[in-house]
Amino acid sequence: MSRPTLVLIDGVAFAPEEARISVLDRGFLYGDGVFETLRVYRGVPFALDEHLDRWLSSAARLEIALPLPREALRRELIEAVRRSGLEEAFLRAMLTRGEGPLGLDVSTLETPARRVVFVGPVQPPPPEAYARGVGVVLYRGVRPTDGNVAEGAKVTNYVVAVLATTQARRAGAHEALLVDARDRILEGASSSFFLVRDGVLITAPESAGVLAGITRAHVLSAARAAGLPCEERAPGPEDLAAADEAFLTSTIREVLPVVRVGDQVVGAGVPGAVTRRLASAHAVQVSRYIDEFSD
Ligand code: PDD
Repeated sequence: MSRPTLVLIDGVAFAPEEARISVLDRGFLYGDGVFETLRVYRGVPFALDEHLDRWLSSAARLEIALPLPREALRRELIEAVRRSGLEEAFLRAMLTRGEGPLGLDVSTLETPARRVVFVGPVQPPPPEAYARGVGVVLYRGVRPTDGNVAEGAKVTNYVVAVLATTQARRAGAHEALLVDARDRILEGASSSFFLVRDGVLITAPESAGVLAGITRAHVLSAARAAGLPCEERAPGPEDLAAADEAFLTSTIREVLPVVRVGDQVVGAGVPGAVTRRLASAHAVQVSRYIDEFSD
């Protein structure tokens, strides 16, 4: 991603340097909010309704009341893209619980939930990353939403993911994979993770507390449509050791081959055939969606 060129706060457009919210906003005070990142292709926000569904279900899990009906939020996102004038972009949609006096009690809130929408030019990894694959590291950690009612919600508190990513970058790696206390690989700090072992695609199930990645869902459905066996279970160290291929998925990175996990080389150490096939299948799904989109 990159810097935004347009920010909408509660529907009002600002240049990013002019955009301000209160220090009493609960998103700032407590990480009390939810967000989504969408990718815009040819001026169309990809998988818009799936992102709206996940955004609203994240809000529901945190008991954040919507400030506008879903259809109005949807129109606002489309309008933000239009106003940005960008064809290839990222869009980040945030909803914070709103503003009120200090303290956790939500009954003292003085405003409805606050919307902040960012749009800016998209900066996916460079072509070499896709051609050669990237390295990742393992990171043991528990996120604020793990094992509680907010599990699976995309909440704005990404502090564990930030620390994991910091460790990855220090090691010269692209991403950190979150590993639980039982050594199972859950997902990337900001991506879903897949292994291919003996012709079977393996990825952690949503029940393990991973984000219901939208790219993940598209890749799984493309894999099933192509007759590739899929197992939704969190891979362990023995899967990693025996893996032929690995890749991660996210809205911005799409399907990105992984060729190293820590010191361990995955398979032949180059992007694999299944990964390439699924990356092409995803690209086809994207173009079909963009061609057929109507608001
Ligand atoms: N994050 N898992 C986590 C923890 C994530 O933060 C993300 C995406 C994903 C991939 O989900 P999707 O395919 O729906 O983008 C998985 C967004 C891109 C972000 O950090 O802004």
